[in-house]
Amino acid sequence: QPRSAPRLTVIGTGYLGATHAICTAVLGYEVLAVDVDAAKIEKLAAGEVPFFEPGLPEMLAKALESGRLRFTADLAEAAAFGDVHFVCVGTPQADGSGAADLSYVDAAFTGLARHLDRPAVIVGKSTVPVGTAARLTALVQDLAPAGTDVEVAWNPEFLREGFAVEDTLRPSRLVFGVASPWAEERLRAAFAPVIAEDVPVVVTDLATAELVKVAANSFLATKISYINAMAEVCEATGADVKDLADALAFDDRIGGRFLKPGLGFGGGCLPKDIRAFAHRADELGVGQAVSFLREVDAINRRRRARTVDLVRELAGGDLDGARIACLGAAFKPDSDDIRDAPALDVARTLHGLGARVRVYDPAALGNARRAFPELDYGTGALDVARDADVVVLLTEWAEFREIDPGALAEAVAHKRIVDGRHVLDAARWRAAGWDYRALGRNFG
Ligand code: UGA
Repeated sequence: QPRSAPRLTVIGTGYLGATHAICTAVLGYEVLAVDVDAAKIEKLAAGEVPFFEPGLPEMLAKALESGRLRFTADLAEAAAFGDVHFVCVGTPQADGSGAADLSYVDAAFTGLARHLDRPAVIVGKSTVPVGTAARLTALVQDLAPAGTDVEVAWNPEFLREGFAVEDTLRPSRLVFGVASPWAEERLRAAFAPVIAEDVPVVVTDLATAELVKVAANSFLATKISYINAMAEVCEATGADVKDLADALAFDDRIGGRFLKPGLGFGGGCLPKDIRAFAHRADELGVGQAVSFLREVDAINRRRRARTVDLVRELAGGDLDGARIACLGAAFKPDSDDIRDAPALDVARTLHGLGARVRVYDPAALGNARRAFPELDYGTGALDVARDADVVVLLTEWAEFREIDPGALAEAVAHKRIVDGRHVLDAARWRAAGWDYRALGRNFG
């Protein structure tokens, strides 16, 4: 750690906070991670990452070995220790209005501020409605013994689950929302090893930094729903959305990333972020500017309903008593996260319609079982496919892509499959005698 390096705290050791604390400790900073959940910090301190993230357990081992990463439940200790404090707590959807629940963010900022008696920067990383940082600045400076020597900054996080370590060590960009050159200097010092890797830095005001995050996620969600809207049109015309997407992707102004049609987006970010953004825009009187986000959300939900329809069609029109094998539960592969998971939404709807649903996922079974004990779970793809009337692929795990149509055929009662993620080779499966269906594709 260079002599001038600030000491860091990370408040909230969920997905984002744990990754940030672990990676910055490995990069050479002295880091104190804070959480109110004693069980969580005990696990982390013992070297156990409480969620599935490739590469992170190895990084945690390194961080602990270095002696630079420690844990506490005490905000007073954090205030005494740190120069730059990162707030990484969640902002879940509060209610049906789509508004974000800011109670954890407010509690972290105010709880810390009360103990700050020397200059410090509190950096928000959580995704918040634009205007939150300005509101928190007033609150924090009022509460902190150090007054206006405590500054608020915003540093939105763009990491993807499954690539958390890579995205933290080499992010596509760093965005620093700051109110003074001093806060900018502190942030630059807190990210020096990352900046040294030629990562671009955008320095801006607080409101812009808050907006960058929701604007980025809204764009990604819109891109996915755009191609899924095209899938709906394809279905009505006999066209093929896979060929359509492939052809669009050659135009590098459009690009093929996030243009994969299928069951659509889920997870703890994209769905809630577009709803919270639409809600915030309404509050600000500019709801019309982003009213398309409600359409993006509606298109996305229709994909789930349409997947259920396809399964019903394949099952002969009636789901009651039909045996359905669901491959996948996580909202995306290489994750055990089931928040707003399209896969489980489909599985639960099928179950509700009377189907005998069996679910398998390589990483998310534990979480799925806890959240939805009413579903039946199996130990592998072939296991859940035993005697199935229809197989439906809902999360594109690598091991599902590699399934051999011949081997699966021996397990099932009927060779019928819905590929909810467009990852299987349709020609190969059809040649093996399967009735293969996918959203937005027609096979005569
Ligand atoms: C997303 C953003 O990609 C990150 O940049 C951001 O930091 C993060 O949210 C966040 O706000 O914290 P993540 O939720 O990990 O990251 O997942 P993505 O890889 O973006 O996938 C989101 C969903 O879109 C998944 O359900 C995925 O299956 C779906 N998707 C993605 C598609 O349906 N089609 C695509 O072409 C791409």
